[in-house]
Amino acid sequence: MSKILIRAMVLPMTGPDAFFPRGEIGIEDQRIVFVGESGSAPAGFVPDRILELPNDVVMPGLINTHTHAAMTLLRGYADDLPLMPWLKEKVWPFEDRLTDEDIYWGTSLALCEMVRSGTTTMLDMYASMDQVAEAVLAAGTRAVLSRGLIGNGPNGERALQENIELVRRYHGAGDGRVSIMFGPHAPYTCSADYLRKVKIEADRLNVGIHIHVAETQDEINILRDQHGKTPVQWLNELGLFSGHVVAAHCVHLTPQDIEILVQHQVYIAHNAESNMKLSSGTAPITDLRARGAVVGLGTDGASSNNNLDLFGEMRSAAFQQKLRVDSTALPAYQVLEMATIGGAQTLGLENVGMLAPGYKADLITIDMDQPHFYPRFSIPAHLVYAAHAGDVRTMMVDGKFIMEERELLTMDVGRICQEAEIRAKRISKELNG
Ligand code: NI
Repeated sequence: MSKILIRAMVLPMTGPDAFFPRGEIGIEDQRIVFVGESGSAPAGFVPDRILELPNDVVMPGLINTHTHAAMTLLRGYADDLPLMPWLKEKVWPFEDRLTDEDIYWGTSLALCEMVRSGTTTMLDMYASMDQVAEAVLAAGTRAVLSRGLIGNGPNGERALQENIELVRRYHGAGDGRVSIMFGPHAPYTCSADYLRKVKIEADRLNVGIHIHVAETQDEINILRDQHGKTPVQWLNELGLFSGHVVAAHCVHLTPQDIEILVQHQVYIAHNAESNMKLSSGTAPITDLRARGAVVGLGTDGASSNNNLDLFGEMRSAAFQQKLRVDSTALPAYQVLEMATIGGAQTLGLENVGMLAPGYKADLITIDMDQPHFYPRFSIPAHLVYAAHAGDVRTMMVDGKFIMEERELLTMDVGRICQEAEIRAKRISKELNG
């Protein structure tokens, strides 16, 4: 049994008015047992350790609802290109040369960056997912993992078998820190028959589906030519939306598409920065939310962002909707909800995303004693509009410290950076001499 007491400003994300300027939070083993003003610890709670952080805000860990973690190895390798040449001439040839070990180290690099920037949980889609799962288990963070499935590619059937095997081996691993979804890549890279097969397996194994949807105008054109429908209409007709689905991007939607997504409670992973960098467009996030859709935030891969910093993503998501609609769109607290509780709902995680009794102890503390956080008028506004990744001081996942005083406790960051550098340069040399 371990009991920890953290004294800090507490932003529990249980409602817009919930904030304890001199608060405390008690953790017993993996769970939060109480949250409130200083002095709210029950009489029997005798902590083994007390963290006094009066100038920090403690809040739920951030949740990245769409990424390709190992693409950190491609960070800065190909930029400022149109989407199709970027994929076909740069990304895919590089990815063809990645070994299982490369993916392990690329994912570990992503996890270092995520921990430093306050992300406790990610939804990943990639290959060699056993390696990704092992990297997450070693890091001590939380993740939902999906094998990226290109149904129309030469390895479509094998990849589907790998996703099935991934469920068997890792669903619920690490005391429930790791869970699995199926990862059909997109409506334009998977046939109807293939998507039906994926759906049957997801239902049989009782896990969700994670898919890119309506990301670019090209995708809309392809689906219209092939099926005479929008991607959302087509996936709906295939019955894909009957279970838990995370639809990444959802940039190009008709009003009818929005109705379909809302009616089927499809969860939206919004990737504002990737959509801007690849010039994909601006997702109608305020419209989706106004209709009742649950939206989480994602960074997408480090090749189209180029970082995995959800603080930057929050700021971009807010500013982008303000530019699209008006300055009242997507206020700071709503953006924080998308990055925490909205993300947990998107990933189908229970008892994650808020600081409340019975919830899992996934939390971060942010050092507010810095010039860019004074004066302290509004903590939510500061976190969304003024915070940086490097402001995160502490991280705890499932009741265990992952970072203290900005030092990573579970990962050898020096070794991981070195491995990533050597491996990425090896592949670049193979391809470009
Ligand atoms: Ni993506």
